[in-house]
Amino acid sequence: IKKITTHTLQSMKMKGEKISMLTAYDFSMARIFDDAGIDVLLVGDSASNVMAGHETTLPITLDQMIYHAQSVVRAVNRSLVIVDLPFGSYQGNSKEALNSSIRIMKEAGAHAIKLEGGEEVVESIKRIVSAGVPVMGHLGLTPQSIYKFGTYAVRAKEEEEAEQLVRNALALQEAGCFSLVLEKIPASLGKRVAEELRIPVIGIGAGMHVDGQVLVMHDMLGITKDFSPRFLRRYLSLYDDIKTATQTYIKDVKSKDFPNEKEQY
Ligand code: KIV
Ligand code: NA
Repeated sequence: IKKITTHTLQSMKMKGEKISMLTAYDFSMARIFDDAGIDVLLVGDSASNVMAGHETTLPITLDQMIYHAQSVVRAVNRSLVIVDLPFGSYQGNSKEALNSSIRIMKEAGAHAIKLEGGEEVVESIKRIVSAGVPVMGHLGLTPQSIYKFGTYAVRAKEEEEAEQLVRNALALQEAGCFSLVLEKIPASLGKRVAEELRIPVIGIGAGMHVDGQVLVMHDMLGITKDFSPRFLRRYLSLYDDIKTATQTYIKDVKSKDFPNEKEQY
């Protein structure tokens, strides 16, 4: 098996081959995605929402991220595994950012880390990259800053914020990021950033012109029910399918249909 590396992603951008990325948080799902041929698995801090049930990504800890990352890394044969630095494990302190990244690489065996922000995290990125750890950036609607934004609405619709985002994207590339996620911004801005940058730009709600796409697995598989942003395409309705299967199981147990003669010793 040919493993996907950061260099593979770079050459995919050069060839115009789109990059496919999904989040994963556990062994069993990561095994299926890897087997299906996904290019990149992101152990996102969205685990705080979809795995732990928090309202935001802020509460998840570095130890919890490492636990999820270990499970995903064990499952993977081919995909590139990127792990989010959680809120509070890097902001405002490049030494702490490096230490957190080293823990993720060492304890989980991840292939790269991702962090949110622009100019304000450049010093940290340089330090992490210098240690040999590939870094993915993340701009636009960065969920760790939700209390600053005050809303999950589309970012950078106005010129001032759009220009700032382009400056930040260039700064991240300059700092040594191998790639960048753009979340929930106008498609025209996604196009502009993907064209101006050498490194691959992965979008979530950033339109069709970026170099790849990422979705949260629970959204893509229809496990989440009351989250329906315009950018989301659902490929299954697992919430309903799992609920129906569970109801059938309950009925079979209650009615003594399960187990039958063949299903016992
Ligand atoms: O945590 C996450 O799932 C992410 C993706 C949405 C990019 O950061
Ligand atoms: Na994230």
